[in-house]
Amino acid sequence: MSTSTPERPAAPIGPATAAIHSGYTPAAPHFAVAPPIVHSAAFEFPDHATAVEMFALRTPGFTYSRTGNPTVADFEERVATLEGGIGAIATATGQSAVAIALLALLGGGRDEDGARLPGGHHVVASSQLYGGTVDLLTDSFADFGYRVDFVDQDDPGAWERAITPDTRAVLVESITNPLSTLPDVATIATIAHAAGVPVVVDNTLATPALYRPIDHGADIVVHSATKFMGGHGTALAGVIVEAGRFDFAADPGKWPQLATPKARYGGQVLSERHGRAAYLALARSKYLHDLGPSLSAPAAAEISRGLETLGLRLERHGANALRVARFLDTHPAVARVHHPGLDDAGGPDRRRQVSVFSFDLAATAETVGPFIDALSLFKLVANLGDTRSLVAHPAAMTHCRLSAAQRTAAGIGATTIRLSIGLEDPEDLIADLCRCLDAVVGEAVPTDHRGRSAPSTAGSRA
Ligand SMILES: Cc1ncc(COP(=O)(O)O)c(C=O)c1O
Repeated sequence: MSTSTPERPAAPIGPATAAIHSGYTPAAPHFAVAPPIVHSAAFEFPDHATAVEMFALRTPGFTYSRTGNPTVADFEERVATLEGGIGAIATATGQSAVAIALLALLGGGRDEDGARLPGGHHVVASSQLYGGTVDLLTDSFADFGYRVDFVDQDDPGAWERAITPDTRAVLVESITNPLSTLPDVATIATIAHAAGVPVVVDNTLATPALYRPIDHGADIVVHSATKFMGGHGTALAGVIVEAGRFDFAADPGKWPQLATPKARYGGQVLSERHGRAAYLALARSKYLHDLGPSLSAPAAAEISRGLETLGLRLERHGANALRVARFLDTHPAVARVHHPGLDDAGGPDRRRQVSVFSFDLAATAETVGPFIDALSLFKLVANLGDTRSLVAHPAAMTHCRLSAAQRTAAGIGATTIRLSIGLEDPEDLIADLCRCLDAVVGEAVPTDHRGRSAPSTAGSRA
C-alpha cells in the first residue's frame, strides 16, 4: 500500500491515460484509488479570517458546492486535460453550459452607473445547431435583448458578413445534431479572430476522443456531458473549457466584464487578477454563483467514470454506426443517409467516425411514427450517447420548436430520423432496422413490436 501521495504523471500523456489518471491523485487520509464522492454542500472554514479571504476570492478553496466541489473539480480537470484547455467549469446540464458560456461573453456592457451599454449583445451561430440551443438563442436570450444571426456554416463569406462590431461570440457544433455535418472550425476561427470575436464550439457529439476544437482554433469548448462522456444515459451534466488564448484584456471597451474594474470584485479587474483564466473566473464567480446550475458530486463522479472508457466506447460506437449507415444506404426505403464517413470512412478527420447520424425515410411523414414504433432495440428517447441505440424524430422532437424555414436551413426534413448507435452487436441493430424498413417498402409497418420483442426475435442477422 502506498503511504505517500504519488507524483502526478509527467505531461504529456496520451488521451487514454489522461482519461483515467488526470484530475485525481489518491491522497490522505484514505488514498482511495477511485475518485471519492465528496457529497457535502459546504466546507468548514478553519477560522473566520480564512472565510473572509475566501469569500473575497483572494484565497482559493471550496466554500459551498454551488461554485465548487472536490469531486466536481476532479471532473473539471479531467475534461480540461482531455480537451487541451487551461481549465473547465462543470454545470448541471449541457444546456446550462451553453447558456453560461455565452452569457459570460455577452453580459458585460454596463457603465459605472449600472446602465447597459449599447452593443455587445450579438451571436453569430451556425444554422445547424441542437434545437435546445436554438430555443435558448431565439427565445430566452431574445428576452434579454440578445440577438442571433444564423449562417450557413460552410460559407466563409456568410460568417464574415454576419459578424458586426456588436458580435461577442461565434457558435458552432463540431459535429452537428442531427445531420452530423463537419464544419471547418479552423476557417471559422480565422474569420472570427480577424474580427476580434471568440469562437465557442459545442463538442458534444465528437467528444475529445474524436476531435479537440482547441487544436483547431476554438477559444471555448462546451459539452453536454450527459451524452458520450457519461455514456450510459444516467446523469445529466455539462462542462465549459477555456483555451486561454483569447486576449480579452487587449480591448477593455469591448470586454468590460473582464478587463475593467468591477464593484463586484472590489474594484479589481478580472483579467489582471486571473490572467488567462479570467473568463472562467467570471463564468464561475458570477454566472454559476448567481444562476446556480451546479453539477452535483454524485453526477460528477458518474460522468468521470464514463470518461475512463470514452476512447474505447467511441471506437465501438463509431464502428457500429458506420456498419449501420452502410446498410441503410443500400435499403430502398431510405432516401438519404447523413453520415460523413460513408464516402471516405478512412479519411484523416476522426469526426467521420460519428456515432450519431440521421437518415431520410423514402416515405410519407405519416410513416415515420409507425416505423419508429415498430423498432425493438432502438429506444425512442430524447437523448443520445447511451450504450443503448436510440432513435428520435427531430422535426417532431428535439427540433420541433424551430420554424419550418429554420428546419429547412438545418437540413431537417419531415422524414429525417436520428439514430444514436449504441454498443450492441451491429448485426442485431441492422436486423431491427431491416425488419421495419422492409415493412415500409411493403407499406405494412408492424406496430406491435416496440418494447416487447426480445433481441433474438428482432429479425435475422443481416
Ligand atoms: C449538441 C448538444 N448540445 C447541448 C445539449 C444540451 O445538453 P443537456 O441535455 O445535457 O442539457 C444537447 C442535448 O441534446 C446537445 O445535443
